[in-house]
Amino acid sequence: MNENALRPTPSVSRSLAEILDFSSQRKEKAMKANRCKQTCSGIYTIILVIVLVIITGCSTDKQQVNVSEQSQSPVSGESRKFEGLALTPPMGWNTWNTFGTNINEQLIKETAEALISSGMQEAGYIYIVLDDAWSAKERDSQGHLVGDPKKFPGGMKALGDYLHKMGFKFGIYNCAGNKTCAGYPGGRGHEYEDARTYASWGVDYLKYDWCNHGTADAKETYKTMRDALYAAGRPIIFSLCEWGNNKPWLWAKDIGHLWRTTGDIAPCWDCRKQWSMGWKIILDSQVGLEKYAGPDHWNDPDMMEVGNDGLSPAESRAHFSLWCILAAPLMAGNDVRTMPDEIRNILTNKEVIAIDQDPLGKQGYKFKAEAGKEIWVKELSRGGWGVCVLNTSDISAKTIINWKDLTFLKGTYQVRDLWQKKNIGTTNNDFAGEVASHDVILFKLSPLE
Ligand code: GLA
Repeated sequence: MNENALRPTPSVSRSLAEILDFSSQRKEKAMKANRCKQTCSGIYTIILVIVLVIITGCSTDKQQVNVSEQSQSPVSGESRKFEGLALTPPMGWNTWNTFGTNINEQLIKETAEALISSGMQEAGYIYIVLDDAWSAKERDSQGHLVGDPKKFPGGMKALGDYLHKMGFKFGIYNCAGNKTCAGYPGGRGHEYEDARTYASWGVDYLKYDWCNHGTADAKETYKTMRDALYAAGRPIIFSLCEWGNNKPWLWAKDIGHLWRTTGDIAPCWDCRKQWSMGWKIILDSQVGLEKYAGPDHWNDPDMMEVGNDGLSPAESRAHFSLWCILAAPLMAGNDVRTMPDEIRNILTNKEVIAIDQDPLGKQGYKFKAEAGKEIWVKELSRGGWGVCVLNTSDISAKTIINWKDLTFLKGTYQVRDLWQKKNIGTTNNDFAGEVASHDVILFKLSPLE
């Protein structure tokens, strides 16, 4: 409540003064008359009583005014997101790409353990996100979302506590429509109560989908959920999953911390399925979006398929490298309990992850494309650059880089190959090497004094 609400309004003060002034005039007149001491003192007493009654009544009025002022003042929450929760792109693991709706408590716990033993948690993958199908098919009798009691017998709060104890953050999925894409209860019309539910479970990250939204306006709908999360009071990363349909990069900066820019990813180089597509098609569609991303507001080209059937190790390495060049959120989507070392080494390469997580927070862009080859670059803090050469052809190819062709470079740089983990000289000398089909070479360039 603000201080002014406690102060009497000017009209109340004035009427109180008028009343006191009026009573003192009456008192004076009565004393002047002085006809009879008893009568006078009787009148005086009566006047005093009247004045007291009026003052008391008036002060009651004053309180009533203040109470009604309070109840009329807007009690709506603030329209804002929680700031500063994603200064670098969020990193974690999500159930969907490998497990779809087939998820449960045991899977989550085994995954948490595998993320720790594989070194992924230490490398930065801290959000464990339960995608679609974690909830019961219906809300409870009070309209609250509940976890599926068969899949999550311990309940969602206990799962959140477990994840926090293991050093993770707890992510969950729902949908802005009436139902999620897999047919579970959606959030439409329940935003504020759902946000309170998530907060009470200790949720740290909400992915919010766009199925079954009817005629709802995307911006307004996502704003409602943002405000609901803010009102619930627990800092929760808000991940918009609207597939880029309404160009969220143009309006979602103040609504969420990341927004999907495309439909779903599929585990392949460039296949097209009904709702999904290979990562190379998604990569191509990111051209031009780089100017919209930055700390706390990232383009999200979807979760990773690194390590999933359908991608060769080279395609997984290239996919990971380019997601880092894009400053994409790094949500692993493979079965980390059984991944081979080759995949673990890709996902945990800290120097490559550092390209993604660079504090400057600039998304990279396609610098050049020619037959069979693309060069993607990303500006880094302290004058550095990430440079990724992608072989788009079906055969292994010789690559020569004359660094002078990278016209944005200023002066001389040390060149480090991040997959070989080797310094390979400076930009004073051309680079010559072989790049396998659908593979990459990823360099970090650091300026030399
Ligand atoms: C949509 C999203 C996916 C996934 C599924 C779940 O397709 O884009 O990432 O969350 O829904 O049903």
